[in-house]
Amino acid sequence: AIERTLSIIKPDATRRNLTGAINDRFEKAGLRIVAQKRLRLTREMAERFYEVHKERSFFGSLCDFMTSGPVVAQVLEGENAVARNREVMGATNPANADEGTIRKDFAESIEANSVHGSDSAENAATEIAFFFAETEIVG
Ligand code: CMP
Repeated sequence: AIERTLSIIKPDATRRNLTGAINDRFEKAGLRIVAQKRLRLTREMAERFYEVHKERSFFGSLCDFMTSGPVVAQVLEGENAVARNREVMGATNPANADEGTIRKDFAESIEANSVHGSDSAENAATEIAFFFAETEIVG
């Protein structure tokens, strides 16, 4: 089925001017960028976005990192977009990511791992609504 998923190009990637290179991976995989905005997350936004991880040891460091520079939030649309995006991103830890994935090729560490992608269709809907009004998404 045609789905939408929420993607974030993280500060380590915007700092190295990799937005276009990463978008090329998405488009070559058949995902359409149907909404996109560059913004600086506030501390409050980062803590709210990653609320499910708030008891994890890495939560504070993750929020520091995610507010350390601009991010690009985007909605990707396509056949099985949630799973397709996760294939293109590769494993969370770049040390475990398959050859040819975004994280294998670009990520600096498990924290500075270049991209975020929703892990389920249900979370995708919540995460898309976090960043975008329906009128900003143009399929
Ligand atoms: P992301 O997909 O954005 O979801 C949570 C983020 O926490 C993850 O990518 C990593 O950037 C970051 N993170 C940092 N340390 C860990 C860890 N030990 N396990 C999982 N995620 C981690």
